[in-house]
Amino acid sequence: MRPLLFSLSLALLWGCASNPEPAASPAPQPAEQAQAKLVPADVQGLFDSACTGCHGPEGAAGLDLSAESAYAAIVNHESQGVPGMPLVTPSNPGRSYLLHKVAGTHEKVGGGGKRMPIGGTWGPEGDVNMEDMGALCRWIEAGAPARE
Ligand code: HEC
Repeated sequence: MRPLLFSLSLALLWGCASNPEPAASPAPQPAEQAQAKLVPADVQGLFDSACTGCHGPEGAAGLDLSAESAYAAIVNHESQGVPGMPLVTPSNPGRSYLLHKVAGTHEKVGGGGKRMPIGGTWGPEGDVNMEDMGALCRWIEAGAPARE
């Protein structure tokens, strides 16, 4: 009886109902544990086509918009341009400096520098069209959820 009681009390201590013997199955792969949150595919599509040429790893303004990094780099991440204003504030497009930089309203909120993408075009046939802006803005409005 003793060994059984011992292992039962250990199990209770750890808050697990099953036998606390080391699991026979292999430990989770590091890649599974550290899977990065991703921005939705349509928003990443804009970043890939118009931004990552400059904003890749070690990119301009220290901003990495490549797929693995973009979410952490922008959501609730303070901008350099306007201290106190994040690049993306979930549910608040008006306090999302990245959106202002692409919309060209960055100077109105106290920022500087160029409209993004530098050297780009905006409009129906542009590097950034209305669907791109809509996707970006709606995603922020929806609370900037990570890709499912
Ligand atoms: C040709 C290179 C280039 C491209 C393309 C480009 N950027 Fe930039 N970006 C820069 C540089 C350089 C700066 C810093 C100077 C400035 O703000 O004008 C910057 C600054 C920024 C900032 C300000 C960061 C902060 O923390 O204040 C944001 C946000 C930004 N870029 C977003 C974008 C987005 C989104 C795109 C694509 C739609 C894009 N950029 C495309 C070069 C680029």
